[in-house]
Amino acid sequence: MKILVTGGAGYIGSHTSVELLDAGYEIVIADNFSNSKPEVLERIRKVAGKDFDFCECDLCDKEALDKVFDSYDIDAVIHFAGLKAVGESCEKPLEYYRNNLVSTMNLCESMREHGCKKLVFSSSATVYGMNNTAPYTEDMPLSATNPYGWTKFMIEEMLRGVCAADKEWSVALLRYFNPIGAHSSGQLGEDPNGIPNNLFPYIMRVAVGKLPELGVFGDDYDTPDGTGVRDYIHVVDLAKGHLKALEWCSENVGAEPFNLGTGNGSSVLEVLHGFEKACGKTLPYSVKPRRAGDIATSFADCSKAEKQLGWKAELGMEDMCRDGWNFIKNNPNGL
Ligand code: WQD
Repeated sequence: MKILVTGGAGYIGSHTSVELLDAGYEIVIADNFSNSKPEVLERIRKVAGKDFDFCECDLCDKEALDKVFDSYDIDAVIHFAGLKAVGESCEKPLEYYRNNLVSTMNLCESMREHGCKKLVFSSSATVYGMNNTAPYTEDMPLSATNPYGWTKFMIEEMLRGVCAADKEWSVALLRYFNPIGAHSSGQLGEDPNGIPNNLFPYIMRVAVGKLPELGVFGDDYDTPDGTGVRDYIHVVDLAKGHLKALEWCSENVGAEPFNLGTGNGSSVLEVLHGFEKACGKTLPYSVKPRRAGDIATSFADCSKAEKQLGWKAELGMEDMCRDGWNFIKNNPNGL
């Protein structure tokens, strides 16, 4: 099978591309490098020991996208490409709605015009909003608290509509919790542009001395140690979940959401101390005011993915911190 991986040069896309190649799939990566680097493509080839096709392509350019489908016989698509910074989406809502929605509409139209009706979509736990109580289940009411989250909410709704209108479509809506860590080779990992918004890449930069200390956004939440609790999942576990979702698409029709998490919550300080153990040094931090929009606790009920995808996360916090440290130690200046 030939799989189109949009955003395949990104953090989760690159790890998923390695797993696809390892499993014997042929892949085509389409990426515009808006939040990734060409170097990643060589890293994927090196880690997987296999070659693949690549198209530098902005999915908002329908003609360019059509050329990809004209050039390759695509059987299914894994769609990672999209803008994903929560804070930035509040500053640039129009850019986020245009980019994330138009790119996905173009993709679905190209797929339809070329008879490709299997899609794995990179959604997010952010669609559970602020009013549900963890552990989150896929049948809970959805909402969002920022334009980025609303794009995921709207795209899920759009894809449900596509499947309702054409019963031949299969769409797996994968709701990621907090992906962290890196491939065990140390060749691939999270390498955001600028100052990281997310906790784990920020801690990695502190550990290699690129940032002076971690700011802990609030220690007065109703959690065991007062700091925010999230469901951190190893990026390789997450990548493997995508291969199971591809299989699901080959055996089922319709649009189906699946939580991809571990089912366990870890606090900010637990992640920090886990990373200290991995890197063998004490990492400086100071408590700052809460970050607007943050919730106290978020973690998944993953029983549906276990039952229907035959997938369960296997790696724990120690693995995530070990592999994250191995990556940043080998790539202190990023990829
Ligand atoms: C985790 C915890 C912070 C940074 C976001 C998006 C979500 C998904 C994953 C795209 C929270 C605390 C963080 C820091 C801190 N992205 N923190 N100091 O907010 O759970 O989820 O990223 O799909 O959609 O919402 O992840 O890593 O930003 O925060 O104390 O410098 O770490 O308050 O409790 P979050 P995060």
